[in-house]
Amino acid sequence: MQARIAVLPGDGIGPEVIAEAVKVLRRVAQTYEHEFAFEEALIGGAALDAVGNPLPVETLQLCRESDAVLLGAVGGPKWDDPRAAIRPEQGLLGLRKGLELFANLRPVKVYPDLLNASPIKPETIADVDLLVVRELTGGIYFGRPSGREQCLGYERAVDTMVYTTPEIERVMHVAFKLARQRRRKVTSVDKANVLSVSRLWREVADRVAREYPDVEFENILVDACAMFLVRRPANFDVIVTSNMFGDILTDEASMLAGSMGMLPSASLREDTLGLYEPIHGSAPKYTGMNVVNPIATILSGAMLLRHSLRLEEEAAAVEAAVAAVLKEGYRTRDIAEEGKQPIGTQEMGDLIADQIRG
Ligand code: IPM
Ligand code: MG
Repeated sequence: MQARIAVLPGDGIGPEVIAEAVKVLRRVAQTYEHEFAFEEALIGGAALDAVGNPLPVETLQLCRESDAVLLGAVGGPKWDDPRAAIRPEQGLLGLRKGLELFANLRPVKVYPDLLNASPIKPETIADVDLLVVRELTGGIYFGRPSGREQCLGYERAVDTMVYTTPEIERVMHVAFKLARQRRRKVTSVDKANVLSVSRLWREVADRVAREYPDVEFENILVDACAMFLVRRPANFDVIVTSNMFGDILTDEASMLAGSMGMLPSASLREDTLGLYEPIHGSAPKYTGMNVVNPIATILSGAMLLRHSLRLEEEAAAVEAAVAAVLKEGYRTRDIAEEGKQPIGTQEMGDLIADQIRG
């Protein structure tokens, strides 16, 4: 098949992990006789520096015309002044919103070979295989009013959490449909004991759940969820939650897998266009050192093959390649065992690409 893939490396280690994911996708194209056209564009701080806008119109346009978008990371200390009016993160948020990517899938799998890389006991994480479905274009990330203002003698800042029934419904349906392809269990996470938005969230969740009688369903509070993710993570199948709760819970959940460097994500909408990115950030202090883990981005590439290009066999081949390289004992610094020599970002990418043999 032919596919156009927009590539947005972004900031910090973004370009390094993207290079390895593109390397692996090129190998897939070669092995399975596809034609993938990779077109690069600016986003985040890199775009801010070059053209004064973290999401240039050309970038959004390219993404709209592509079959899928692969993104590295945005942000860094250079642009972190809390008083700055324009920030790199606005590029990423604008892209998610501009493309209407309302459902963010963040699978958390524990590789048997990485049981000891997690700070949590191996017996607790052994059977973890969960999927967080994070609502991505609403909630407190996008609610208005948002900003700060001068009062008499002090300042005041406000952000607004808003959800509408259609926004909750559509992400719920995504979660329930995905649960049907898995262990048929959905956990909706909210803060209904305090927030009005969460009470609406729960009401809609209960209503949608009734349309899926074959799927087991529960509501839990976000603080309890944070605890259960450490205490009994293997009990979760699909977790569906709002934008900010999903952001926080997935960083926590990444520790089950051993490292932020292991977790991929897919941001989807009703059609097949999707944005694929690791859940980690731009890790500025490791930039240019060839030490970070490219697996999260490579696995994001696998999700791209599966969800946007409908190439299930190829997606599975990339995932198998990652598992095989880990099984052979190769580790980047973030998941290395004590006393063992880690390999570099590029070496990890080469080893995974070499496992793709069709
Ligand atoms: C993520 C990140 C982003 C978010 C930042 C970089 C805006 O933390 O994708 O999890 O908060 O969504
Ligand atoms: Mg995050």
